[in-house]
Amino acid sequence: MCGITGYTGSGSALPFLLQGMKCLEYRGYDSAGITLVDASMTTWKAKGRITELEKMLDAEHCPEHTGIGHTRWATHGVPSQLNAHPHNNMDDTISIIHNGIIENYVELKRELTGKGYVFSSQTDSEVVVHLIDDCFRENGHDMLKALETAVKRLQGSFALCIVTTYEKDKVYCAKKESPLVLGHSAEGSFCASDPTALLAYTREILAMEDGQIAVLTRDRIELYDFEGNPLPVSFVHYPYDAESAQQGGYDSFMRKEIHEQPDAIRGTLRGRFDAEDHLIMDEIESLNLDWDHLHRVYFIACGTAYHASIYGRTLLQRAAHISCIAEPASEFRYEDPIVDEHTLCIFVSQSGETADTLAAVRLARERHAATIALTNVLGSSISRMCDATIYTCAGPEIAVASTKAYTTQLVMLVCIDLKIAEKLHAVFPEEEKIIRSLKELPQIVEKTLDLEAQIEEYAGLLVDQHDAYFIGRQLDYPTALEGALKLKEISYVHADAYYAGELKHGPIALIEPDTVVVAIATQKDVASKTFSNMQETLARGANVIFLTDADTDARDFRRVVRIPACMEALAPIPAAVLLQELAYFTAKGKGCDIDKPRNLAKSVTVE
Ligand code: AGP
Repeated sequence: MCGITGYTGSGSALPFLLQGMKCLEYRGYDSAGITLVDASMTTWKAKGRITELEKMLDAEHCPEHTGIGHTRWATHGVPSQLNAHPHNNMDDTISIIHNGIIENYVELKRELTGKGYVFSSQTDSEVVVHLIDDCFRENGHDMLKALETAVKRLQGSFALCIVTTYEKDKVYCAKKESPLVLGHSAEGSFCASDPTALLAYTREILAMEDGQIAVLTRDRIELYDFEGNPLPVSFVHYPYDAESAQQGGYDSFMRKEIHEQPDAIRGTLRGRFDAEDHLIMDEIESLNLDWDHLHRVYFIACGTAYHASIYGRTLLQRAAHISCIAEPASEFRYEDPIVDEHTLCIFVSQSGETADTLAAVRLARERHAATIALTNVLGSSISRMCDATIYTCAGPEIAVASTKAYTTQLVMLVCIDLKIAEKLHAVFPEEEKIIRSLKELPQIVEKTLDLEAQIEEYAGLLVDQHDAYFIGRQLDYPTALEGALKLKEISYVHADAYYAGELKHGPIALIEPDTVVVAIATQKDVASKTFSNMQETLARGANVIFLTDADTDARDFRRVVRIPACMEALAPIPAAVLLQELAYFTAKGKGCDIDKPRNLAKSVTVE
């Protein structure tokens, strides 16, 4: 989704703005723009990549110390130069960039048009600059007051950065339901929609809360609430450096992140076991919840994180015999879910900023459920909304296709489930063995990565295909869903996932000679059933790629990938790694832009 950068300091603003926008490219965008401000302001905008914008700029002659930059992902109005941000007021004295959606823009536009304001774009965002201009005039040219008045008129979500020729050494920011982080160093002050854009300049970061306005100057950052009351400012030292957000020799971030999984899992498990191998989950211990009267547990998320949720719910329901439901966040709110003070809701979100997931958190809180966030981003919105936050320490995930976030979510969901089962006095089957196996997982994933030549060869089968089918049962089903999603996202091969037993109830009609079927059978008690379903596809000429464990008899199948020895409950983790690689090599074989698949955004901050 859209990316925001802003700078004011002793250096020139342009280098920071451009590098920040490039860091945010992974979020997905279709146009880009920059405003630099001095006694007057200049705005450049281009449709397409940032390189198109750079062609318009004469970087050597841009000494301005203050500016804002934006990458836009169209929601209202087509991708075009006119609709790109920044948007300026009519006399080019105020310039704004905006992430989010202004829900009442039609009525505001009508009102402002009535006052003589002329709009030049089709966006909802442009109303913001004219509204601020109007409030600025009405508040005696006091920008802070103008902003306080304007934000109260805006319905919807916004992260805003504003510069003005009236105060050429300031950047103003405001936030509601769209992420915005601030940073400060001896050189000046910075803002961005994501900490990765700041890391080359500072690791002292402050995540703005909803309902806050910030005023950035070279020497400091001031924070206010929407009533203008000053608020304390405190920075958190961000644990990752700029290097960890760079590509580091790999041909894509996705490939790098696939290979980072052993370390990501190590990092996620660090500090989670005491000397006697007891699980440490203080976040759950300190939850204010009447465990003896807990009726149900919801796992709520979107996309890949939703697949992780299905895995988490299946494991927990089996172990604790409590009702566990996995629900896509985009549906949860509209189902009138049975959520009350006897409900625990676990929200899974890599970014912690997914609008649908945050909306689901709000509903759960309104209904007095206990809430846990499982996220990868320190200080993300979700972490500030839930009763407890548990982090996957996977490091920054830049590629749009989620990889290391998924496997670390699975790892942490196992830990969460173990702890919940303990709180419910349930005996988790093979608990000690699971803990031992969790600790061995980084090595298992390393060995899994050694299988990539085989996966690359099988990806060759998919490169010219229009469709592929992924099947699995029980804990292999979320793996099938995730494998299909990865393939669709980055290679554009249409892929569907089914419970293996469902195939014969319809989808088998689509199987014809050379159709690729990816079958996953790591769960022994249902593996033989999955074999039968695989045979049904073989009989119709399918090319079956079979992922299974180290010792299953697979002599009937030609293409067998054996997951390194791993406990059954954890086998979906290495299996997911293999399917990530299958998608990666297929996309590479097709020449796709792996890190920036069409139409997708890393952080989906609109509903
Ligand atoms: C993952 O490959 C996807 N790009 C997408 O499904 C993603 O998992 C989903 O949008 C949820 O994001 P979140 O984990 O940041 O909430």
